[in-house]
Amino acid sequence: MLVKTLLPAFVAVGSAMAQTPTATCSAVGGQATINSQADAGQYAGCKKISGSIIVGPNAPGTIDLSGPSEITGDLKVLNNGAIERFSSSDLTTVGGAFEMKNVTKLISINLPKLNAVKTLTWQSLTRLETIDLAVTKAEEVSVSDTFLKSLKGLDVTSVKKLDINNNRLLTTFTSSLANLGDLLNIQANGIGLDVSLPNLVWIANMTIANVTKFSVPSLAIVNGSARFDSNYFSSFSAPNLTETQSGDISFVGNGNLANVTFPKLTRIGGGLLIANNTELAEVNGFPKLKSIGGAVKLRGSFTKAELPALEDVKGAFDVSSTEDIAESCKTFGEVAPQSDGGNGSIQGTYKCTSNNSRANEDTSADGSIDGGDDEENSAAGVAFNTALFGLVAIAGLAAAL
Ligand SMILES: *[C@@H]1O[C@H](CO)[C@@H](O)[C@H](O)[C@H]1NC(C)=O
Ligand SMILES: *[C@@H]1O[C@H](CO)[C@@H](O)[C@H](O)[C@H]1NC(C)=O
Ligand SMILES: *[C@@H]1O[C@H](CO)[C@@H](O)[C@H](O)[C@H]1NC(C)=O
Ligand SMILES: *[C@@H]1O[C@H](CO)[C@@H](O)[C@H](O)[C@H]1NC(C)=O
Ligand SMILES: *[C@@H]1O[C@H](CO)[C@@H](O)[C@H](O)[C@H]1NC(C)=O
Ligand SMILES: *[C@@H]1O[C@H](CO)[C@@H](O)[C@H](O)[C@H]1NC(C)=O
Ligand SMILES: *[C@@H]1O[C@H](CO)[C@@H](O)[C@H](O)[C@H]1NC(C)=O
Ligand SMILES: *[C@@H]1O[C@H](CO)[C@@H](O)[C@H](O)[C@H]1NC(C)=O
Ligand SMILES: *[C@@H]1O[C@H](CO)[C@@H](O)[C@H](O)[C@H]1NC(C)=O
Repeated sequence: MLVKTLLPAFVAVGSAMAQTPTATCSAVGGQATINSQADAGQYAGCKKISGSIIVGPNAPGTIDLSGPSEITGDLKVLNNGAIERFSSSDLTTVGGAFEMKNVTKLISINLPKLNAVKTLTWQSLTRLETIDLAVTKAEEVSVSDTFLKSLKGLDVTSVKKLDINNNRLLTTFTSSLANLGDLLNIQANGIGLDVSLPNLVWIANMTIANVTKFSVPSLAIVNGSARFDSNYFSSFSAPNLTETQSGDISFVGNGNLANVTFPKLTRIGGGLLIANNTELAEVNGFPKLKSIGGAVKLRGSFTKAELPALEDVKGAFDVSSTEDIAESCKTFGEVAPQSDGGNGSIQGTYKCTSNNSRANEDTSADGSIDGGDDEENSAAGVAFNTALFGLVAIAGLAAAL
């Protein structure tokens, strides 16, 4: 029966029979389905599977796919509420997508030799608590809504997208990531999540939320934007960051944040947004920041704000605090537009206000809704880089998954 159903799906190629370990087995039509361990056992003699393997929605209990070291296509388990353990002692490579979505009884994934996948997408593996992998190569990795405490075994050095969200037990993420070509999203994982990226040198964009510790000691370049929302850390430092090439730096609603330092940052390609970080008493962590390609919006409960090296702001400049920042405003006034009595370093609309009880209410990247005297200035000047809005949308999407 099984052989019968398998034979049309799988054909041994070349002189070797399917039972010899050197055989390449081809999935007829490019795709074969495994519905039981007996089905999986049929591939024990294949060295390589040419095509994709789909584990059917009713495949139960334990599925062990030992034998093949390579699957040239995808490996997918979708909408399965029966499988508990998935393993292979031989699999090293998945040429396509390794996807597991809505596999709600899965407890363990044991693929100790799995080193390379094109993409890895795990979503709604709500009981998954044990993984044994050796993945170091992937273009995209997304792990969401699992029961994992650790992502040990998933450690890529170069990747386009890395999305880790809604893993409620995840409390540490340490990675050898060196560069990232599109977006890092970390959001809504375990309370107390400690993110450590000691080797990260450049990253295109990142959106980091609900994180308790975040360390990027080597980060030198952000190509796009870096956004930090609703985190729990009290201190943030990017000690080696020199510029964002095209996007924004933003910190919004980080309720414990008391210290932000970017000692080497000289240029922000987009805008700078710091808003509603109510413990931040001074904005003084940008000693070398000279040039800002977008707008500046600093709003909070600080008593002092300074950007002592500022030479060029293309967009609007809005500083407002619940506290008295008259001294800071006086200093900013020197680089305000000429129409505001400054030397023109700031080119967009300028305002700086003290004692604004609503200073923490406006956290938007555009416009302004404060209680001050700025009605005529909303959204005036050069707006924030649109990359920020793009990131907001993506973070929202990720959260909805
Ligand atoms: C998840 O899989 C179960 C079967 O285990 C299925 O009944 C359910 O509709 C799937 N949910 C979604 C959102 O696809
Ligand atoms: C980001 O900047 C670094 C350093 O300039 C560069 O090597 C890298 O190619 C850039 N990456 C992207 C995605 O633009
Ligand atoms: C997590 O961060 C998001 C912002 O991305 C925020 O809306 C949400 O309230 C935060 N959750 C907690 C528990 O802080
Ligand atoms: C910081 O950047 C400098 C110069 O680019 C580099 O030599 C140094 O190794 C970097 N520091 C860290 C901790 O990566
Ligand atoms: C990330 O940054 C790059 C610049 O390197 C930008 O072109 C791209 O649109 C950004 N991607 C996202 C998803 O925001
Ligand atoms: C400001 O941040 C606090 C958390 O620190 C949050 O509860 C509040 O909703 C935020 N306000 C706005 C307007 O985002
Ligand atoms: C803020 O952080 C920087 C760098 O981590 C540190 O040198 C400085 O002492 C801190 N300032 C305060 C007031 O804690
Ligand atoms: C802010 O309020 C304090 C206390 O009411 C007052 O002394 C101070 O002059 C006000 N500052 C400005 C700039 O209005
Ligand atoms: C305005 O003055 C600051 C120093 O006070 C200087 O760095 C900046 O280059 C000046 N801007 C212009 C347009 O002259």
